[in-house]
Amino acid sequence: MEQTVIIKCGGSVLQALEPSFFERLRDMQKDGKHIILVHGGGPAITKYMNVLSIPTEFINGVRRTSVRAAETAEMVLAGQLNPWFVYQLNQLGLKAIGINGNDGALLECDYLKKEEWGHVGKILKVNRGTLTQLIKAGFVPVIASVSRNLSGEILNLNADTVAFEVASAMEAESLIFVTDVDGIMAEGKTVQKATIDSINELIDGGIITGGMIPKVHAAINCLKSKIKEIQIVGKEMKGTLIVKEEVLS
Ligand SMILES: Nc1ncnc2c1ncn2[C@@H]1O[C@H](COP(=O)(O)OP(=O)(O)OP(=O)(O)O)[C@@H](O)[C@H]1O
Ligand SMILES: [Mg+2]
Repeated sequence: MEQTVIIKCGGSVLQALEPSFFERLRDMQKDGKHIILVHGGGPAITKYMNVLSIPTEFINGVRRTSVRAAETAEMVLAGQLNPWFVYQLNQLGLKAIGINGNDGALLECDYLKKEEWGHVGKILKVNRGTLTQLIKAGFVPVIASVSRNLSGEILNLNADTVAFEVASAMEAESLIFVTDVDGIMAEGKTVQKATIDSINELIDGGIITGGMIPKVHAAINCLKSKIKEIQIVGKEMKGTLIVKEEVLS
């Protein structure tokens, strides 16, 4: 859909978003952009897992998810963070509507690799019609990154991957990852512009690790699927622009 912008807000930053973030959303709407938000909830999920004494384990930034962990993720993402975020957006005059992967059969999913990752999902299909109809009705969809497979088993989805799959299905013009750091950091500074090659070097050199890995993988997949503009930014909307290759000027 033309003029669609996907904005993924990390769980790491969700509850600390600055007025500049909401102003940027309003400016985008004024410019005629269709906004779709996707959010994670890493820290809040971890907090509730601790409260419930459920152990947490991350491998390359992806959570290994037991049944109880998946239940907690669904409860926190769809039951708490999503309504909270929708409320904030509505307060600021955006017509936000909260959905998760089950609503309108938005995200068809199955296990990524059950033996290895447990209840972590992979997306088989994004039901573009659900989002298109909401947008046409004037809503800003706010997607919680959790869904269920055909048998009803809860699958925890990496929100960066959801953002990429949604951006790709909607043929979005840009994807912005808002996180708790001002973009990709190397040697203590923000990398202003990163290419596929420079990202691969930073991964190989151990500079990009943990939660930044699924983000840059999603960014690379976006470039391959013709999404023109990808940014990884902090809560003041400043950070790294990711481009296919460096254009010499
Ligand atoms: N080179 C790097 N530059 C910046 N951040 C990095 C780098 N390597 C690893 N990171 C880590 O990636 C983190 C961001 O990913 P993280 O998964 O924690 O947040 P998020 O994706 O915004 O939130 P959520 O996973 O809840 O959606 C940073 O806080 C930082 O610790
Ligand atoms: Mg993350």
